[in-house]
Formats: sequence, structure tokens, C-alpha cells
Amino acid sequence: MKHLLAIEDLSPEALLELLRVSQSFVGVAAAGTKAPALAGKTVVSLFYEDSTRTRLSFESAARRLSADVMNFSVSSSSVKKGESIKDTVQTIDAMGVDAFVVRHASVGTAHRLRDYTDASILNAGDGAHEHPTQALIDCLTLQQHLGRTDFTGVRIAIVGDINHSRVARSNVLAFTKLGAEVTLVAPPTLLPPVVDGWPVHVSHSLDDVLPKVDVVYLLRVQSERIGEALYPSVSEYVNRYGLTSERARRLDQHVVVMHPGPMNRGVEVAADVADGSRSLILRQVANGIPVRMAALFTALLPGSSFDTDGVSFEGVRNV
Ligand code: NCD
Repeated sequence: MKHLLAIEDLSPEALLELLRVSQSFVGVAAAGTKAPALAGKTVVSLFYEDSTRTRLSFESAARRLSADVMNFSVSSSSVKKGESIKDTVQTIDAMGVDAFVVRHASVGTAHRLRDYTDASILNAGDGAHEHPTQALIDCLTLQQHLGRTDFTGVRIAIVGDINHSRVARSNVLAFTKLGAEVTLVAPPTLLPPVVDGWPVHVSHSLDDVLPKVDVVYLLRVQSERIGEALYPSVSEYVNRYGLTSERARRLDQHVVVMHPGPMNRGVEVAADVADGSRSLILRQVANGIPVRMAALFTALLPGSSFDTDGVSFEGVRNV
């Protein structure tokens, strides 16, 4: 795997393999040590959209593998002088770069970068299209929670702004490739116009769906991608689609709550639910580093082997 562009491109076997490598890195990430696997490689993070966890965890993952990290900031770069993404990428490429981690508001940007550089491309989010490493994080988190690698029989509700969410798209594909049954829950205005062909059920009623799920996956309303009001008011949204404290109390004890962040507390999820015992949200954040270590490792050292005890890798020594 030279590039990681979309979950769509991955077979269930490739997805499971990436998750296996990610789990192998959990111990390395938690130990706070550095492995020399990517020493001598340079990784550039190229973020044209805001980010906290994705950018920091990609950069931290690259450093944990001893790569050099170049950090590109749109606000202080020649983009402000009108430079095209092609010229920016080719300029950085000429400095000798092994991987670009790219986030951009336009669908397909990560795919397009392959025309401008021979380096590996890792998609950190392209518009409302895909966010493959977030889906890997969420699958890894669920695997750890369930204690098994496949999701056969697991019922997952993805709730909220499906239409503008790259996380929803990547997660529908990843969860269903691993066997889960996914229900999208949203008002009609926040659903894609056509969900035919998506391997999902659709509901407009959160209260109908909650008694029948094992996982409630909440999404942020993507106000930056919405040009017009698509629901009457925030309180109306909370009323119908928010995981309020009262709704959470009605959930069966085994049901867990997930959110990719950043959260709007009190909107899609009540603060006490986000911080409560059924929340996997901080575990999702923590898994960002091992998953992105695995993505960089697999893209930059294709065919390398490692053992699965989570500590030692062939050719890789903790330093
Ligand atoms: C998401 C994103 O940017 O796509 N955040 C993330 O990477 N964890 C979701 C969001 O912005 O709501």
C-alpha cells in the first residue's frame, strides 16, 4: 500500500491487516518510546483545513517512528499569495519528501496529488468524501471494546449530519466491510440525496433506533459546509437527534457512545454522556497515534514485517 486515500479502496482483508498493524503499535505508542523505522524519511503535513487531533496525531506518529516532520501552514505560506496546490506540492517535493499527509476542503484532492509527486499520499480528509484514518481509529476502538476483530451482528447507529460528513462515509464502508449492521439516523435534510447502494438502513427517528443498537456514533453538524439552515433550530435538533442525558439513561447498559471530535457538547451529545462510563471518545483520540503510525509505516515501508507482541518489529528497535 503506497497511498492511503479511501476506505473504499480497501478489501476487508486489507482493512483487517491495517487494524492488526495498528493494534501492534498500541504498545509502542503507549510506551512513549521512539522506533527508528522511518529514520531518514520525511513526512509533510499539508493541512488546508483546520484540525487538532488529526494533524497532531499524524505528526506525533511520524516522530514516534523517527521520521522528520515538515509542517505546512496555509495561513503563513505562499498559498496566501495565490500559489496553486500543484505548485506548492511540487515545491515541497523538490526538497525531498517521502509522504504527504493532506487535508483539503475539495473532494479528491488527495487522489489528485499523486499526479504531482512520487511520494506516498495519506488522506487526512477530503471535503465531505473520506477520512480513512478516522474510520481505522473507530474500528480499532470497537475491536478493542468488543474483544474481537469482526463486527458481525453488531448494530451501529451513525447519527447526525451524514450528508456533509467524510467520517460517516468512511465509517459506513469500514464498519460494514467488517460485518456490522449500520443505520443512518438524521433528518432528511442532513442525509445524502441518494443512499441507494449504500449498505445501510435509514431512519429519521433516533428514539425508534436507540433500543435496537449496540453503538451510538454521533456526528458534529458541519456548519462550515452548510450554506443554509437545514434544521429549524439548535434546540429542535437536540430535541430530535441529540444524545441527551435522558436518552442515554434509556440505553441498554452494554451500549457505547462514540464521536470523532470535535464535539459540540450539549448539541449532538450531552456533556455528561460524552464524559460518562459508556463513552469511548477519549479512547478514539488515543488510538489516533497507533493508527497513524500503522498508516505511515505501511505506506512508507511496504512489505516490512513486524511481530504482533506490540513491542518489537523486525528491523525496528525501540530507542
Ligand atoms: C472530523 C473531520 O474533520 O472530518 N474530525 C476529525 O478529524 N476527527 C469530523 C468533524 O470535523 O466534525
